[in-house]
Amino acid sequence: MKGRIPQAFLDEVLARTDLVELVDSRVPLKKSGHNFSACCPFHNEKTPSFNVNQDKQFFHCFGCGISGNAISFLMEYDRLEFLDAVDDLASTLGMEIPREAGTAEVPVSSDLYDLMSEASQYFQQLLKKKADGGKGVDYLQKRGLSGEVARDYGIGYATNKWDGLLKALGGSSDRQQKLVDTGMLIKNDNGKCYDRFRERVMFPIRDRRGKVIAFGGRILDQGEPKYLNSPETPIFHKGRELYGLFEARQANRKLKNILIVEGYMDVVALAQFDITNAVATLGTATNEFHLQQLFKVVNEIIFCFDGDKAGLAAAWKALEIALPLIRGDRLVRFMFLPDGEDPDTIVRAIGKDAFVEQQNQAVPLSQFMFKHLELGNDLATADGRSSYVARIKKLLEKVTDPVLKELLVTELGERVHLSTDQLNQAMKIEKSKVQQSTNRISGKPKTITPMRMVIGLLVQNPTLAKQVNDTQWLEHVSQPGAPLLKAMLEMLHSNPHLTTGALIEHWRGSDEHRQLTTLVSWEHLINDTEKVVTTFCDSIDKLFTEIKHIRLDDLINRQKQKLLSENEKLELKQLLSGSF
Ligand code: GTP
Ligand code: MN
Repeated sequence: MKGRIPQAFLDEVLARTDLVELVDSRVPLKKSGHNFSACCPFHNEKTPSFNVNQDKQFFHCFGCGISGNAISFLMEYDRLEFLDAVDDLASTLGMEIPREAGTAEVPVSSDLYDLMSEASQYFQQLLKKKADGGKGVDYLQKRGLSGEVARDYGIGYATNKWDGLLKALGGSSDRQQKLVDTGMLIKNDNGKCYDRFRERVMFPIRDRRGKVIAFGGRILDQGEPKYLNSPETPIFHKGRELYGLFEARQANRKLKNILIVEGYMDVVALAQFDITNAVATLGTATNEFHLQQLFKVVNEIIFCFDGDKAGLAAAWKALEIALPLIRGDRLVRFMFLPDGEDPDTIVRAIGKDAFVEQQNQAVPLSQFMFKHLELGNDLATADGRSSYVARIKKLLEKVTDPVLKELLVTELGERVHLSTDQLNQAMKIEKSKVQQSTNRISGKPKTITPMRMVIGLLVQNPTLAKQVNDTQWLEHVSQPGAPLLKAMLEMLHSNPHLTTGALIEHWRGSDEHRQLTTLVSWEHLINDTEKVVTTFCDSIDKLFTEIKHIRLDDLINRQKQKLLSENEKLELKQLLSGSF
């Protein structure tokens, strides 16, 4: 998967990212000596063996052996593909992944973003023109939406024409094709294009950087479909986006919590009442990816559902998705609205303060879980208690945080009058299985040859590269590892500031990457800097001596067969006199 993103860009992203901060936002770290540590998020343990080293920009778990740099961490923890992990780091830094000419690897074309931005401008302009957008304005006014909020959310209007956007933006066949690719135009069987969105109020959907990637269009009055969304496109995957997240982050320097509601209208109505922490999924149920995204931004998520049967069922689904993600420091709560109401109608009816008050009363996930299951099981009877415990057991198996799991078992015990021991016995909660990972390696290199020593010390202390000026001689070294060592030294000569984490990134996906990763976490027990430098130089000398002897043997052999050139004769003389 790698290779097409310029390596210099990866260097830059890794140089500007702090792994400690990145990990800490997901797994709270404690300073311990030179490192930061925590209980490993990748396997179940009670004492911390997961370490993050700030200088090296590298993490390693002595328990399960997982290790890597910031990109690897995101790939493992957020279960992202390489490109997505890089994109995630880059967008946090406000950087854009550059495209290298002639490759199809980075799929997203910036042209598509540009066109979507033009489309959004176009719809907003139409809403402002009385002749074109009058109907749209009337509709929004009827729904009580202020011009200010319409502006903040970039709301626009598509007229009833079949070729409005086509004429305004589709100036060339290339642009038309791209508008088809973004889903803004539809191409019929005869190859003719027409506008997808007609006579609708247009809600632009922005990604985390604020770029418009899709639209949701609401019909003015009655009709089907009520909301028409952009299809899946190269820049829009509806299961990965949340409407209003960009705007919420814009409106709040530091968000305390996020409210998940159902619709576009709910988000904008709440914003109008100065409740700017609401986001909505795009007509789909909330999924694990959504929650992971949100937990990067806040520690508390509040789901807002209808109080009716459908709302309750949706809440239960949300609970099951949230269980594996909650931890002691992550809160999930549920807020239920009266039957038939949604946040849009409620906030307009009761106002901001009463709404916020209701939000504050939202039920914590564990309470919702315990209470909801009590409805179906009579805890006054043994049968009821037993089936209750069985249902909860199934749910608790999804909880990955061991401390939280124990707290929940304790609470369950109180509810059914059993001791924790009895319960643990009855439930036999399985320890969450250690995730298997391709990056996992055993911590120790096999034997310590001078080559391993040199490479190991170098990957752990990249500044050692300046101890070796010449690298040409390494070409004659036959030991495995010589080409790698040469490449590392040359790379560090031209990029002296690479950290360990950034250095090994250059080998991602190759065998060398695995070897280097092993060596980063290798405990050679050489701790003081001076000793590191002398050991490194000694090992380099050993390598050098070795090739000297091999070269000497070779030259002597060929001299016997009278095969030496003039230069080689000179070289032999120098070697024999020890002045090589
Ligand atoms: P209003 O009726 O305008 O207040 O909309 P709402 O936000 O209250 O919508 P509703 O509760 O009916 O639906 C919630 C969300 O589901 C919407 O915001 C859309 O994202 C989605 N949705 C609703 N109806 C449709 C539809 O017909 N098609 C699609 N694709 N999505 C829909
Ligand atoms: Mn509504």
